[in-house]
Amino acid sequence: MALEGYSEHNFGTKLGDVLSASRPIRSIEYLKGRGKELDTIKKSLYAPGRHVFIFGDRGVGKSSLGQTAAYQYQSADASPIFVSGSPNDTFNTVVANIVSQAIRRPRTESVKSSKALAIDVGGIKINEGQERSGIDIAAAVRSVGDAVEVLKQITERHSEKPVVVIDEFDAIRDPVERNMFAALLKQMGDQSVNLKFIFTGIGKSLDELLGAHQSAYRQLETVELPRLGWDARREIVNDAAQAFGLDLDNDVNWRVAMVSDGFPYYIHLITEKVLWAAFSADETVTTIGWDLFNHGLADAILSTTAELKRPYEKAVLHRDPEFEDIVWATADHDDLLRSLNDMHASYRVLVGKRRDGRIAVDRAHFSAQIRKLKGVGYGSVLQQEEGRPGWYSYREKMLRGYVRMQAQANGVELTGERPTPKQSMHIGNARNGYHGASIPSGVRQSQKISDWSKE
Ligand SMILES: Nc1ncnc2c1ncn2[C@@H]1O[C@H](COP(=O)(O)OP(=O)(O)OP(=O)(O)O)[C@@H](O)[C@H]1O
Ligand SMILES: [Mg+2]
Repeated sequence: MALEGYSEHNFGTKLGDVLSASRPIRSIEYLKGRGKELDTIKKSLYAPGRHVFIFGDRGVGKSSLGQTAAYQYQSADASPIFVSGSPNDTFNTVVANIVSQAIRRPRTESVKSSKALAIDVGGIKINEGQERSGIDIAAAVRSVGDAVEVLKQITERHSEKPVVVIDEFDAIRDPVERNMFAALLKQMGDQSVNLKFIFTGIGKSLDELLGAHQSAYRQLETVELPRLGWDARREIVNDAAQAFGLDLDNDVNWRVAMVSDGFPYYIHLITEKVLWAAFSADETVTTIGWDLFNHGLADAILSTTAELKRPYEKAVLHRDPEFEDIVWATADHDDLLRSLNDMHASYRVLVGKRRDGRIAVDRAHFSAQIRKLKGVGYGSVLQQEEGRPGWYSYREKMLRGYVRMQAQANGVELTGERPTPKQSMHIGNARNGYHGASIPSGVRQSQKISDWSKE
């Protein structure tokens, strides 16, 4: 056994406690790098009538922040109420879900037992523990006013400080239905209903999610969630290694952080696979080094959900041979919005790193291929920035992390290096596109990409 003292069962169970690639985090101990956001949420929830909206790209950690914040706010006499939006949901069905959740709550000893949780919605009485179909409840809620009324009853009886998380709010397809939540928050404020809502949604702005005519600006603290910062990325890997008493090569730690592109899913997944590789190794393992990293990275690529990798495969499989390099180049650098010039510079450096004598395609050809990557047939990997010709971003930001893992697994490190300028006089500055290398300062690049394909 490569990790002293662990049976497979013990190891797997502990790993599941330490890492959670497939499940949002609920406790502050495991939520890294979100101190500022948690603090903002905590403070804003003190304000009567104020609620929270967390938005950002797919996979950045919205549900984790929402759930952790909910557990922080919710009083100990009950669990927070969690519901999730889906395409066919309406305002009524979401409210009905909240009601069902609230009355299904398991009783704990400490509950104010004198108050049975019975509620009255539009003349329908629902007792605690009584199974009422969501359809019944949804039909009973005939207006925003009814919803306020029923939520008021829940607030009075559920717990001391109840909180509702509406996750994936963006999934509710009909904007009219989404917009009704703005009216709900307003009316709840007017009637001093002290139930707190935490919404999460994929999107760039509140307008996009609640509708441009929404009127709940004053009722909502909006928290836009960026990708995880460097320290948080590193901490996840470090904590996991430490939990098993393993040393962690500092460069490997940086590499996981870089490859992940700040998406915590990849960090958890790679680290999980690296640790399994440590567990399965022939010799006793005391340090996580490059061999284990490469092994774990390859396994993580295999385990990445098909939905995420499909666009990549569309873009590179059965294509001209340069496509792989070109797609990798688009994921270079830390900036999400990149110019053709910049991506071309990345591409030239990258082809040089291949060291197999391949020749870089010329700039015109490069541009033509980049444009193809916008097309559905090529997985719609890129989108053009509106009103800025020649500037591109990933349509699905999370795909960048997968592309980075692919490049790394093929021996190409993406570090945002620039081609050596012909005349140093002409090195650009930030204004005309030079942002410096995306590699954090003080980081050595891995000299030893060990050859795991040898195995
Ligand atoms: N701050 C964090 N520290 C450590 N791990 C995190 C953090 N945030 C999220 N994670 C992990 O990353 C993964 C994705 O997080 P989460 O599900 O919260 O993202 P999301 O934005 O809700 O994703 P989606 O858009 O797919 O709903 C989860 O497995 C979670 O455990
Ligand atoms: Mg989520």
